[in-house]
Amino acid sequence: MAKAHYTCQNCGHGSAQWLGRCPSCSQWNTFVEEIPAEAEGPRRGAVAEDRLRKISEGKKGGAGPQSNKPRRIHEVESGTEVRWTTEIAELDRVLGGGVVEASYILLAGDPGIGKSTLLLQSLERMSRTRQVLYVTGEESVEQVKLRAQRLEVSGERLYLASETNWEKVLGMVEETNPDVLAIDSIQTMYTSEIQSAPGSVAQVREVGARLMHLAKKAGVVVILVGHVTKEGTIAGPRVLEHMVDTVLHFESVGGNSFRILRAIKNRFGSTSEVGIFDMTENGLQEVKNPSELFLAERPKNAPGSVVVSSMEGTRPLLVELQALVSRSVLGTPRRTVLGVDAARAAILLAVLEKRMGLEIYDRDIFVNVVGGLELSEPSADLGLIVAIASSFHNTAVEPNILFLGEVGLTGEIRSVSRAEDRLREASVMGFNRCFLPERSAAQIKDKVKGMELIPVRKVDEVVQRLFR
Ligand code: TYD
Ligand code: MG
Repeated sequence: MAKAHYTCQNCGHGSAQWLGRCPSCSQWNTFVEEIPAEAEGPRRGAVAEDRLRKISEGKKGGAGPQSNKPRRIHEVESGTEVRWTTEIAELDRVLGGGVVEASYILLAGDPGIGKSTLLLQSLERMSRTRQVLYVTGEESVEQVKLRAQRLEVSGERLYLASETNWEKVLGMVEETNPDVLAIDSIQTMYTSEIQSAPGSVAQVREVGARLMHLAKKAGVVVILVGHVTKEGTIAGPRVLEHMVDTVLHFESVGGNSFRILRAIKNRFGSTSEVGIFDMTENGLQEVKNPSELFLAERPKNAPGSVVVSSMEGTRPLLVELQALVSRSVLGTPRRTVLGVDAARAAILLAVLEKRMGLEIYDRDIFVNVVGGLELSEPSADLGLIVAIASSFHNTAVEPNILFLGEVGLTGEIRSVSRAEDRLREASVMGFNRCFLPERSAAQIKDKVKGMELIPVRKVDEVVQRLFR
């Protein structure tokens, strides 16, 4: 009898015996038994490899058989990566400018967030120029068709199949010869060569590796859907993250219908880009101008509300920052900060108190970034300081002013990156004045029309001008 082997469902750690707690990731009750295949017959995966070779030989785009002999680095041709557009601009941007041929992409996210919807919409677009095969293990073909009707999606070259067995999927690939293969989701797939249940680490790892070969050897773009639970307990995506070229995360913002698509890993582009979508009755709509979205319900002339600019990848985003300062009834006043790093906020509060003599030590202070966004850049420092001072003095800041600048411990205002791009975006959105660091102001001068620049060096200058 084959020897039983146990694997952690969270991190993939293996053990010869069952363990209550994983020594690698410290999770409890995550070990399950994986029964390895009997060591007889052809080597595991050999048959599939053979079929893969046939597929790749039949394809022009495939990498084909290559010598594995080590070569000097200057002898290796760099090879041009072939990219093509998905015709969904937000998705293209996150991918780094379109889909790269033979790439292996994982689309992960909570159940129900809209992964299948995004996939179906983008596959339909891709099928206008490519051959596309969409294999779903979660729904019947009829269900997908219903969704497609709702999304007004059809397509000559978009093939649908409902299947969970990898060997059968491979057969479909041989039959339809697709340029793009989408698997929804990897947790439902299994290969008959190993006995564990679909979704187990062993299956996910095995099918994942086969699909990687399909992408790399046959030049097929493979897109996988992977579910992540809140606790991140499904091993699938974790195990896969190492194998794929690109990991995309689909998340909701602020609990409403807006969705953010991020690249967590990308071998073909930056990981700082985001794509923004709105989930509507008729599927996902691209949000072309997110600043508009995050400023839409901004109150005018409300103390504590200011607008700052945050770079999301290469795109400046205007976001509203709110602060509320109120007298505390507690011994230790409350400091609640959402969307800004709490340590950063604590430093800025200390600067306000020490450098400007603002008596906030006995006040409750609440800070929030509207729209559920996270500000990770120091360029929002000045805005945060002004928001708190504005609420403290109960005096609103004019709604057409933008604040830019990193604040140091002595209260000095330091320059920010990409100031020009940020001001252009602000100008489009109707802002006409900007407090910004002296150095950034000198760099921009008159480059942005209709924008009055107010260069500042110290935070007290700013607060003096606004509130006294
Ligand atoms: P789905 O793509 O099935 O999510 P996932 O594949 O990530 O599990 O989308 C799930 C939700 O999206 C579902 O609750 C219904 C909603 N939805 C819309 O609001 N509009 C639409 O056009 C579609 C197709 C779905
Ligand atoms: Mg789905």
